[in-house]
Amino acid sequence: MKEMVQSPNSGSAGRSHGMGSRQIYEELRDQILGGVYETGSQLPSSRGLANEVGVSRTTVTIAYEQLAAEGFIEVQQGARPRVASSVLDHNSSSASPKRVVSVRLSAYGERLRTSTPWPDYLPNALKVDFRYGDLAPSDFPTLIWKRAMNAAMAQRPARLAYDDPRGSRRLRQALQGYLWRARTVSCNIEQIIVVNGSQQGLDLAARLLLDPADRFVIEDPCYRMARQVFASTGATPVPVDVDADGMKTALLAEVDARLAYVTPSHQFPLGGVMPIARRHQLLEWARHEDAYVIEDDYDSEYRYDINPAPPLHRLDGGSNVIYLGTISKTLSPMLRIGYLVVPLDLREAFATAKQLVDRHSPVAEQEALASLIESGSYESHVRRVRRLNGERRKTLLSALQRNFGNRIAIEGVDAGLHVVVWFNDLPQTLEAPLIAAGRLAGLGLHPVSPLYNRQENQRRADRVGLVMGYSALSTRQIDNGVRILRKAVKQLQQ
Ligand SMILES: Cc1ncc(COP(=O)(O)O)c(C=O)c1O
Repeated sequence: MKEMVQSPNSGSAGRSHGMGSRQIYEELRDQILGGVYETGSQLPSSRGLANEVGVSRTTVTIAYEQLAAEGFIEVQQGARPRVASSVLDHNSSSASPKRVVSVRLSAYGERLRTSTPWPDYLPNALKVDFRYGDLAPSDFPTLIWKRAMNAAMAQRPARLAYDDPRGSRRLRQALQGYLWRARTVSCNIEQIIVVNGSQQGLDLAARLLLDPADRFVIEDPCYRMARQVFASTGATPVPVDVDADGMKTALLAEVDARLAYVTPSHQFPLGGVMPIARRHQLLEWARHEDAYVIEDDYDSEYRYDINPAPPLHRLDGGSNVIYLGTISKTLSPMLRIGYLVVPLDLREAFATAKQLVDRHSPVAEQEALASLIESGSYESHVRRVRRLNGERRKTLLSALQRNFGNRIAIEGVDAGLHVVVWFNDLPQTLEAPLIAAGRLAGLGLHPVSPLYNRQENQRRADRVGLVMGYSALSTRQIDNGVRILRKAVKQLQQ
């Protein structure tokens, strides 16, 4: 089955709310007419497709019968359906002379067109998906959030007008206090810019700080969405290797660049926490180069059995460091709320860039978040999800230990919501077969290798490595997922 666009309600919850026959029929019909399936090519078996999209086999059979009745496919007992040759007639009868439209993109548009898309947000019908970045819906404080949103909506605004591009004053004030309490980040509220998730913060920084002739430092391996947004400016990435302590800052000595992007509190993806000496080395380099450092503190709320290291922002005093935080790991990635703390000298440029992009972030959600922070509910929620994710982490680590023992090495366990698992006896060539075997068994697996910048580093990671996120899964699903993983690995080794 070619990628099927699923309704937002489908996916793992799809058995009760997923696609109906009509939707499957329409999707397949459009894919056939659009040439995704060529004449004579095979469609998936009804059983295979049913499993893939998470519906009953009967639902798929009804869709196939309709397609056959309309001459789109030919069905033979015991064989997979084929796209009928009469489809050519469908196409030619409806075809008007095709206008050749040439796509004319800006240099930026061209760079985006040729960059690798990141399609991972699609819902899926897998039994267990270790995809990193999702949270468990049951962790969301629905009642508290609803109440805060209702209160925000009930307030009769004195005016209906555009707000401050930097974000609601109330939220920035609440964040100022929170950042000090939770992260010892000390700033003026004029330095805080509320953004639509960290991603918008990265995008604004890229637009404001990089030109096509510039170079930017990026961790290797790295958070791909950061690399892509910086590279979209036309600037050149300078990948710097990472070890168990985060970026190897000694390697910066020879590097000249305008900006460095780092995840010091929990390197993404390998999970190292940058020690203080490296933090100072990085800041020293930034001062020497007159470069900005973007400190992405995306999941610093999750620390297990280790002491917090002071953020770069604190060590630097905030003149070279742009601090970036998000509620995507604590409340929900769907709310799209993040915050930047920018050096005082940059505050106006960031405010203007934000205003040009979208005027400002939606106000009611900002007010709701502000009231959660003011009342202390946000911090007690963070304590609660930290405990829940601590249990998930413990379950994952012991399941991995039980099922694989010393055949694996686990990295990045001290913080965050994922770990990286290296399979000592699986050469990298088995990565794709393992992912495919997992998928067939209903398991979502995600390799580390695409997060490497450099081919040679990818090869250096000569074993199969997986990024395993656990924050969306129940402890039962985690246990079950690791069991399925063991079977998939065993299959490969037979
Ligand atoms: C390194 C890193 N930064 C930031 C984010 C969060 O991005 P956002 O706030 O745009 O949801 C993620 C999410 O996966 C991440 O891995």
